[in-house]
Amino acid sequence: MLQSANPFSGSATSAAAPAVPPRSQPLSLDGVSKRFGATMALQQLSLDVRAGDLVALLGPSGCGKTTTLRLIAGFEFPDTGTIRIAGREVTNLPPNRRGLGMVFQNYSLFPHLSVAENIAFGLRMAGVPKRERAAHVTRMLDLIRLPGYGERRIAQMSGGQQQRVALARAIVTNPSVLLLDEPLGALDKNLRENMQFELKSLQSKLGITSVMVTHDQEEALTMSDRVVVMNHGRILQSGTPTEVYDRPRTRFVAEFLGAANILPFALVRAEQNWLDIAIRDARGEERTDAPPTCRVAHALNRTLAAGACGEVAVRPEKLRVGDPRPDDIRFDGVVAARVFRGSQHAYRIEVPSLGQTVSVYQQAARAAALEAGHPVSVSISPDDLVVLEAEPGEGDAR
Ligand SMILES: Nc1ncnc2c1ncn2[C@@H]1O[C@H](COP(=O)(O)OP(=O)(O)OP(=O)(O)O)[C@@H](O)[C@H]1O
Ligand SMILES: [Mg+2]
Repeated sequence: MLQSANPFSGSATSAAAPAVPPRSQPLSLDGVSKRFGATMALQQLSLDVRAGDLVALLGPSGCGKTTTLRLIAGFEFPDTGTIRIAGREVTNLPPNRRGLGMVFQNYSLFPHLSVAENIAFGLRMAGVPKRERAAHVTRMLDLIRLPGYGERRIAQMSGGQQQRVALARAIVTNPSVLLLDEPLGALDKNLRENMQFELKSLQSKLGITSVMVTHDQEEALTMSDRVVVMNHGRILQSGTPTEVYDRPRTRFVAEFLGAANILPFALVRAEQNWLDIAIRDARGEERTDAPPTCRVAHALNRTLAAGACGEVAVRPEKLRVGDPRPDDIRFDGVVAARVFRGSQHAYRIEVPSLGQTVSVYQQAARAAALEAGHPVSVSISPDDLVVLEAEPGEGDAR
């Protein structure tokens, strides 16, 4: 099949056909930097994507997600570092020699061509004969569950259908890597959620190594095998969705991926794998009504001296209202507000000894709703406290 055809390269390529479809190939970036004038868009970025994995790049606007995709695609070239696809260095190769498929946010379908002509575009560029093209298009239309839609115009297709056509066009050439820049960004919420499942199941069925850019934290967590959280052109953390969600390394990651309560602490005693900490209030001050010292596990790669200050993060769903367990730390508070979110009650609870309001999510099925003004006892298991690293650039060792 066609490794070299790329409908986005803008140039015709030869149909050099590898014997085995080039699926499930690894991708790696090593020390990649890219500057645009005074902007360091990427700084020493290194990333390994395992064969067949779907990796989500997540981060605020301007953090370098699209630049990363464009470098992988060959639309831009890095100032330093190397890019490898299937073990082969492609750093300075043009897009049409990298064996990639791409899906963009606005699909970039050709409005004057039919669905079938759109899907077959890359094959036509690669000189695949007409009959063979038609067979590929039929196979693709079945795969994206739009059989018989080949002759439709693009304008006659719904947003979700156009999205699937764009996907078919990207994968028909059997790319070794699929790049997706906000592929579901133009869809409304319901359709988007359906398409998340569809895209993910198609991606795993075909085993195409994929890199997807998204703004949507939930999308990144539900769809990907690994999540890469970026900021200011660097990777802050990468790992499986559970690793990154349950064990965020920094405050930025904790707050970017879902909600987090951040509690300052002062260090009482440190050992290699655990810390004894005294929780402080939001201003970092010691309170007489604070709970006693608690012991937390940590994986810091720096040493802390007694008295040093730090922060722990705890997810709202890990906090309990009432129902404390023996080793829990407990805080007295008052319900400030409650929002019903279908399966959960989301509370804001004012905790005087913390000098802040904390977020608590409680399964709605497990307890009756508490109204504002209700006094409560909030409890946390020390096992659910995650000790945070200082953000990079704050001058702290990392
Ligand atoms: N061609 C270019 N010329 C100059 N600056 C650029 C160019 N492309 C990107 N940049 C800058 O590089 C930085 C990273 O941009 P990039 O498009 O990769 O961000 P992003 O993470 O995709 O953001 P968004 O979520 O808004 O799409 C930004 O500061 C951007 O302004
Ligand atoms: Mg972008």
